[in-house]
This record gives sequence, structure tokens and C-alpha cells, in this order.
Amino acid sequence: MIRRTALALLAAVVLTACGETRLVDGGAGLGYAEIQAILGKLGDPGDAPHERFWKVPYAEFVDYRFPASWDNPQDMIKLLEPWNSGESNLVKALRDGRRIRVTKHDGKVVTINIPRMPKGGSGVRSSDIEKIELWIDAGCPEFGDKPSTLPRK
Ligand code: HEM
Repeated sequence: MIRRTALALLAAVVLTACGETRLVDGGAGLGYAEIQAILGKLGDPGDAPHERFWKVPYAEFVDYRFPASWDNPQDMIKLLEPWNSGESNLVKALRDGRRIRVTKHDGKVVTINIPRMPKGGSGVRSSDIEKIELWIDAGCPEFGDKPSTLPRK
């Protein structure tokens, strides 16, 4: 929490020093491009049911859903809950893979545990996970210097 606040403040200072105050809603100047760069470093997803989700256009990414497994293509995992990093499966999967929310074919929501992602790879740096959390809590803005256009639930 302290590190996240410090990151946000640092971004504010840097942006102000550049002659512009552009910090938007706590997002630390992060946009989709920065999140793609973090995720793009994590390796090849092989036959993963989510495929290369960080390559899709922004509008698709913020609403991205994929099958929990190829065997159960009707059970879906939603990647993000914009404005709510604590409920976002992206963050849970990168932290420890626990309590991933899955929507079953009948609409029921259950939680499952999966291997920490990226599966078989080294874990994501916690500073990178914190950036992803800041970005989600700012409403997943497409660009770091503009506010989110996504509705709050
Ligand atoms: C850049 C980030 C990620 C990478 C590189 C990655 C990589 C992988 C790999 C290599 C596999 C195994 C594929 C195979 O069996 O050939 C896998 C499976 C899977 N991943 Fe990911 N993953 C990432 C993020 C995520 C996220 C954010 C979620 C959930 C929100 C997730 C959910 C799953 C699931 C449900 C499976 C199938 C279950 C399993 O194989 O155990 N992954 N992923």
C-alpha cells in the first residue's frame, strides 16, 4: 500500500516536473501500452486457453473472457474488473492463482485455484503487479495521460 502510494506520488512529481500535471485518477501515468509491455515479457502461453490476451485491442482487453480449460469451453474466466484490482482475476493469477472467479454455463460463479501464472515461468515482479493494480484501480485507462472512460459499477 505504501509502495503503491509512493509510486503514484512519484509519477505525479515526474509529470509535474515535465511542466504538466497529468496524473489521472491514481493511475500513475499508466495506460494499456505499459500493461502490454509488462505482460509481453512473461513468455509464450503455449496452448493456454487465454492465448495471447495482451495482444488484443484495448476495447477487447478490458472485457476479455476465456474458457477456464479447453475441456470446459463454457466455463469462462473474465480477466479484469475495471476499478477493482482486488476482484480482478489478472492480479490473482499473477500473485498466486488462488480464488479465480469462474462463471459456469448456468451463470453460477465459483472460485477455483490454478497454477500461479505464467505457468512454468518465474513469477512476475511485485513492483509490476503493483503497477497493474494501480492501473486497474484507476479504471484501466487506455492512455496514461487521460482518465478512464469505463463506467464504474
Ligand atoms: C502473460 C501472462 C500469462 C502467461 C505467459 C501464461 C501462460 C500460461 C501457460 C504457459 C499455460 C499452460 C498452457 C499449456 O498447457 O500448454 C497457461 C495455462 C492457463 N492459464 Fe495462463 N498465463 C498468463 C496469465 C494468465 C492469467 C492472467 C490467467 C487467469 C486470469 C491465466 C489462466 C490460465 C488457465 C486457466 C490455464 C489453464 C489451466 C492450466 O494449464 O493449468 N493465465 N498459462
